[in-house]
Amino acid sequence: MRPQLQQVEHRSYLINGELVEWNGATQDVFSTLNGAASGYAKTRLGSIPDLGEKEALEALDAALEAYDQGKGAWPTMKVKDRINCMLAFVEQMKTKREEVVQLLMWEIIKNKADAYKEFDRTVEYIYDTIEAYKDLDRASGQFEKNSGVYAHIRRAPLGVVLCLGPYNYPLNETFSLLIPAIIMGNTTLFKPAKHGVLLITPLLDAFKECFPKGVVNILFGRGRSIASPIMKTGKVDALAIIGHSSSANALQELHPKSNRLRTVYGLEAKNPGIILPDADLDLTVSECISGTLSYNGQRCTALKILYVHEHIRARFLEAFCAAVDALGFGEPWDENAWLTPLPEPNKVDYIQELIDDALAKGAKIMNEKGGQRYDNFIWPAVLYPVTREMRVYQEEQFGPVIPVVSFEDFDTPLNDMATSDYGQQVSVFGRDPNQLAHLIDVLVNLVCRVNLNSACQRGPDIYPFTGRKDSGQATLSVHDALRSFSIRSFLAFKENEVNKETVKDILDADQSNFLNTDFIF
Ligand code: G3H
Repeated sequence: MRPQLQQVEHRSYLINGELVEWNGATQDVFSTLNGAASGYAKTRLGSIPDLGEKEALEALDAALEAYDQGKGAWPTMKVKDRINCMLAFVEQMKTKREEVVQLLMWEIIKNKADAYKEFDRTVEYIYDTIEAYKDLDRASGQFEKNSGVYAHIRRAPLGVVLCLGPYNYPLNETFSLLIPAIIMGNTTLFKPAKHGVLLITPLLDAFKECFPKGVVNILFGRGRSIASPIMKTGKVDALAIIGHSSSANALQELHPKSNRLRTVYGLEAKNPGIILPDADLDLTVSECISGTLSYNGQRCTALKILYVHEHIRARFLEAFCAAVDALGFGEPWDENAWLTPLPEPNKVDYIQELIDDALAKGAKIMNEKGGQRYDNFIWPAVLYPVTREMRVYQEEQFGPVIPVVSFEDFDTPLNDMATSDYGQQVSVFGRDPNQLAHLIDVLVNLVCRVNLNSACQRGPDIYPFTGRKDSGQATLSVHDALRSFSIRSFLAFKENEVNKETVKDILDADQSNFLNTDFIF
């Protein structure tokens, strides 16, 4: 049953450690969840401040001041003190679980189990990041010596980081950028995604209370009114985006000196599933269902095209289509709601366009329910045979439609992947060790993760998450993200008595937060 909706009229934003009250223009936030009772109108969830260039630049000034060209309290703080701030934050965050999850369900229409999973996974990500940072710090708390030169090498912050996340994981993916950026000593600016914005509001107090002023600045409004003016100043040192390469390119090009800009991107993908003649049918169907249709296919890691060997095509399509049509559909809080309505208002029409284009060019809908429309949902259509001329082959659909290509020659999927603009992951289904060995050796050079008899996915978050070509830049595991948001910097000294004594004196005085050999338990 639909829970009672508590509209959120949010009127503040976080700048320089203050929740500033906003009396200006606001933006309404809607959910596409609707129903007969509302005459099938959109459901209003509340509103947020519609901030502009002035507030964006004020937030940038706050972040610059807190960084203070590397002299600020946060970038020079002891690692263990920054960790304590993060621990305090995550403790407060945990108290907001219910509020955030309810808003996740209303705003981005993620089913209940996945909404809780997103919250819990984010909390776990923060704890894992803290542990990884302790490991990094312990490993750095020593001296190296080479060619008569000693070195004490640590990772230092980059400066001011602008973080922008996507609507499909508005909490988890955004925090997978923000949390490592903060803990490494950077100061940050953050604007939530267009869909999935109210769910950030319960966390503003925790950000305000747990971090020194100016370390985290949170803005609401449109990307082009907020992120664009910030980038144009050239004062941002790192741009972190999980989203589309078109936004990443547009924003990075605004920076007047792009050579100074570190970019950390998780971008779009068209991950293929390659189904070999001897694939285990039940396992393959089950993994392809979760790969193509978890959260209705709205995942950058989703399987977005299936290459099925001619030898197994008929059996696979029959079993797969039956499994697609047997999935449960409902609102996020309904039991068995595996598929849910889509949060973007025009998405169903877009998916319909892809289907119509494919049908006009010779594909068929292979499953009975495929293409049936409900309020703001379209039943996943399994399209076969798909060819390179079709839009559904070329575009990242990011939604419920599944193109299927058949092949006989193993070079077909390999050549298609080599000429594709994307290079994130692939799934290969099969058993023959000779075929698999050959494929694995080539596939690892085309993408960054080859999943064997398993759907593509980002997790576990300790594994590297990255992509080639238009699919990403830099790497985002718990371990790698700490490195992506920092740079190695070190104290070096030639071996002589003066230096040895001086360094020993600095260590004994215990005044430097960088030059120390403390062990953080
Ligand atoms: O949208 C892209 C996400 O990184 C996917 O993460 O594989 O855990 O769903 P996931």
